[in-house]
Amino acid sequence: METALAKTPEKRQVIFLAILLLLWESGSEAIRYSMPEETESGYLIANLAKDLGLQIGELSTRGARIHHNGNKELLQLDAKRGNLLLKEKPDREALCGATEPCVLHFQIILENPVQFFQTDLQLTDINDHSPEFPDTEMLLKIQESVQPGTVFPLKAAQDSDIGSNAVQNYTVNPNLHFHVLTHSHTDGRKYPELVLDRALDREEQPELTLILTALDGGAPPKSGTTTVRIEVVDINDNAPQFVQSLYAVEVPEDSPLNALVVTVSARDLDTGIHGNVAYSLFQGSGGLQPFVIDEISGEIRLKGALDFEATPYYNMEIVATDSGGLSGKCTVSIQVVDVNDNAPKLTISSLTRSIPENAPEAVVAVFSVSDPDSGDNGRVLCSIQNELPFLLKPTFKNFYTLVTESPLDRESRAEYNITISVSDLGTPRLTTQHTITVQVSDINDNAPTFTQTSYTLFVHENNSPALHIGTISATDADSGSNGFINYSLLPPHDQQLALVSLISINSDNGQLFALRALDYEAVQAFEFHVGATDGGSPALSSQALVRVVVLDDNDNAPFVLYPLQNASAPCTELLPRAAEPGYLVTKVVAVDADSGQNAWLSFQLLKATEPGLFNVWAHNGEVRTARLLSERDVPKHRLLLVVKDNGEPPRSASIMLQVLVVDGFSQPYLPLPEVALNPTKEEDMLTLYLVIALASVSSLFLLSVLLFVGVRLCRKARAASLGDCSIPEGHFPGHLVDVSSAGTLSQNYHYEVCLTEDSGTSDFKFMNPIIPTSLLQDS
Ligand SMILES: *[C@@H]1O[C@H](CO)[C@@H](O)[C@H](O)[C@H]1NC(C)=O
Ligand SMILES: *[C@@H]1O[C@H](CO)[C@@H](O)[C@H](O)[C@H]1NC(C)=O
Ligand SMILES: *[C@@H]1O[C@H](CO)[C@@H](O)[C@H](O)[C@H]1NC(C)=O
Ligand SMILES: *[C@@H]1O[C@H](CO)[C@@H](O)[C@H](O)[C@H]1NC(C)=O
Repeated sequence: METALAKTPEKRQVIFLAILLLLWESGSEAIRYSMPEETESGYLIANLAKDLGLQIGELSTRGARIHHNGNKELLQLDAKRGNLLLKEKPDREALCGATEPCVLHFQIILENPVQFFQTDLQLTDINDHSPEFPDTEMLLKIQESVQPGTVFPLKAAQDSDIGSNAVQNYTVNPNLHFHVLTHSHTDGRKYPELVLDRALDREEQPELTLILTALDGGAPPKSGTTTVRIEVVDINDNAPQFVQSLYAVEVPEDSPLNALVVTVSARDLDTGIHGNVAYSLFQGSGGLQPFVIDEISGEIRLKGALDFEATPYYNMEIVATDSGGLSGKCTVSIQVVDVNDNAPKLTISSLTRSIPENAPEAVVAVFSVSDPDSGDNGRVLCSIQNELPFLLKPTFKNFYTLVTESPLDRESRAEYNITISVSDLGTPRLTTQHTITVQVSDINDNAPTFTQTSYTLFVHENNSPALHIGTISATDADSGSNGFINYSLLPPHDQQLALVSLISINSDNGQLFALRALDYEAVQAFEFHVGATDGGSPALSSQALVRVVVLDDNDNAPFVLYPLQNASAPCTELLPRAAEPGYLVTKVVAVDADSGQNAWLSFQLLKATEPGLFNVWAHNGEVRTARLLSERDVPKHRLLLVVKDNGEPPRSASIMLQVLVVDGFSQPYLPLPEVALNPTKEEDMLTLYLVIALASVSSLFLLSVLLFVGVRLCRKARAASLGDCSIPEGHFPGHLVDVSSAGTLSQNYHYEVCLTEDSGTSDFKFMNPIIPTSLLQDS
């Protein structure tokens, strides 16, 4: 009990209690009770009367009371029964705090006589408090480089309970990195320490949360928890690492400058400046690198032109460095992709610009083609225009020859523009064209050709000498001297034809000239050949027939055959006085040396002694009586007739005719010039008879002669007529008579006649038949 008092803290009541204790020491010893804290009020602690050795009613009679010494009035006295009761629920922690043992001192005071009894109440601890951490969360910053085994102090938890009810143990939730150690201070208080078991990695787990639990030693134990948040502090413990160790890219060679080739990317697991990465080119193969890398973004771009043909492949090492100097590498392999950027090239090794026509196969050109691109971009195709007679022949490797497919003909085409197209098979196709101009040189393979196979030239007779009568013309398809034409006259087949004296030719232009005047009546037509010779070697020639037709001009007057006009005395016809109207007195026969309408004759009575007595038939020259003769009519008549051709201008001849009217054919006919001019009646009669007699005899004879002459004339005329220049029968005007063949003699009157020159005698002289020479000479 003394020890308990000795431990009383220095408080007022403690001092007061000490005084009482001095008073009490003489009396009796202190009575001590013990009970757990937090006992419910009304609890019977003990029977005080019995413990003090008093009678049951003595406590009430002696006025027993409890002196609390200024302590909390925890106790209550039941004086009647002598019981000590708990007045209020006691809390040890409030009454004693950390003091141990927790003893409350109070006195029982009795009167009559005054008596003091010392009583102690010890409160024992129960586990009525949990451990409590000062903060709900603790923050720890730990570098990830900290070694395992490193210890980190933690704030301890508080527990108002004492002894084993205080904090006994700290635990942490199971985790990979930490465990907790529980240590004791010298006063027995426990505190926790966090121990690192396994190294931290911020990159793996930048933050950890642990739950720290403090346990007291009560039964059952109570606990308190707090959160320990651990932030892992970064150190530069990671080198940058590329996402891919190899970047393989293909870049078309025609990519523009500054084109993005590839973006490399490296990761650094560290944060902050430790995670900042700078890219750079470490090393490269393939000579000068036409690439540049962006230090920050890692974009590799083109800074120079690519050329597949020069460098098809690049290899580079890119390094990424962080601020701490750690670095990582990757490889970038760049395949340059060929683009069809080179057009095929064509190189002519030999070229012939001029090829002779008709050559069987000639080599025009030898050339080679090339294309520096690869694959299809470098494969080439050669072609020329389809329609040309040329062929491309592949020869050696990429050499080609251009040859003629078939013999050429300069006359159909003298020049060829051959376009050689060389295209590659790339996309898009590139094509190179080269045009070769080939001239076809001339060979004299074409003879001159006349524009007509025969020429007919018409010339009017009596032309002026050296008259241009026509032009012949030939063409030659060849060129140069091969096409130059020399015209010439060829020797005539007919040896008689003195052609050289008739015709001349201009050898340059083929103009034909008549050298002298032509006479239709002499030559009506003639033909000859002309030649055209070119200037080639050997020369080629051809010929054409030229027929010259002489056209008739009206240059001959009609010629009267009967009655003969050049006689000294005109012919006298006899006319019987009794002749009926329409009696044929005579028939005038005339010829014209011209032909055609120049020989169409018409007769006309110009003058007569007795107009109205005679009619002349215009178309056949027959002179007939128009009426009956009367006694009053004079016996002698003179008729003047004219015969006119139809030429332009017309030519004519006059005919003098004498008609003697006789009274019968017995009367002698005495043709006397003087009688004719001034006849007596008797003489006239005599003459008339004579004439009648003669006429009757002669008319019989005439008939036979005419027949004979007609036959001859017909034959000769047919032979003389050359060509078909005469006007057809149908167009012949009715009042005219055509004497172009046989004069005005019809079939009935064909005869040849010649009268004696001597007009002194009136005898008819019938001589050998003659032919009108002027007409028939030429045949
Ligand atoms: C603390 O608690 C742990 C786990 O509950 C236990 O293993 C350990 O023995 C305890 N320590 C003490 C001193 O009671
Ligand atoms: C060939 O080309 C030249 C020059 O371009 C041109 O004058 C000529 O007419 C052409 N010839 C042919 C046959 O196309
Ligand atoms: C034409 O040919 C003739 C002979 O056939 C010759 O004499 C003449 O010189 C030639 N003319 C030319 C221009 O060659
Ligand atoms: C009359 O002409 C013919 C023919 O021309 C001739 O034969 C004859 O001699 C000529 N007579 C006279 C007298 O001139």
